[in-house]
Amino acid sequence: MKRKITIAIDGFSSTGKSTIAKLLAKKYNYIYVDTGAMYRAVTYFAMKNKLVSKTVLKEESLILKLNDIKLTFKFNKILGFAEMFLNNINVEKEIRTLAVSQLVSKVAAISEVRRKLVAEQQLMGINGGLVMDGRDIGTVVFPDAELKLFMTASADKRATRRYKELIDRGDMVSFEEILFNVQERDRIDSTREDSPLIMAKDAIEFDNSDMGIDEQFERICALVDRKLL
Ligand code: DC
Repeated sequence: MKRKITIAIDGFSSTGKSTIAKLLAKKYNYIYVDTGAMYRAVTYFAMKNKLVSKTVLKEESLILKLNDIKLTFKFNKILGFAEMFLNNINVEKEIRTLAVSQLVSKVAAISEVRRKLVAEQQLMGINGGLVMDGRDIGTVVFPDAELKLFMTASADKRATRRYKELIDRGDMVSFEEILFNVQERDRIDSTREDSPLIMAKDAIEFDNSDMGIDEQFERICALVDRKLL
């Protein structure tokens, strides 16, 4: 049997990490874990419980409620990827809104939240054969991952992609607020004290500002195949 490796994909917001991760998981028959969805689901929970808003962050109360948060991924055969469930309710759509994007970096900076989610992520990858994307996968969650990618692209390109995604979904957003959100999240994610977004020393940097998905996928598959030799 072919050996199974762990592929860690980190990088800035809206660099297409999850698109590549899903394609890789399909091709190699690996498990895909979108860790951003987990931070988004905790943020959604905090919003519903009035523990976070643009002006409020009730950190202690959220920490006390962390045991009430059950996160599970359930594979959707039609969509071809696993959807995020919060306490047995599908929140896949709710967690992708701009409102959640605007608050998630604040929640993700809380160490107790990170500790809970990192422990769950490490359990999911215990047997290898995993593609995981996020901000700290190659540095904290799986520092021994066989392949680490670090995705970057210009803020303008990233905001354009994200804007298109949200508009296609029917959300009423402006390009300016998306650009601001992308830059603001990168700033908070990169400067937080606990597990900031940084490139692991042994990661391969991948700037996809001017690269289509097919070219990226081809190049990354070549990197994976080399690791599987
Ligand atoms: O991948 P995403 O854009 O859906 O992630 C949402 C936010 O969650 C991101 O701005 C920072 C946080 N995050 C994190 O801190 N660590 C991770 N491993 C994944 C996401």
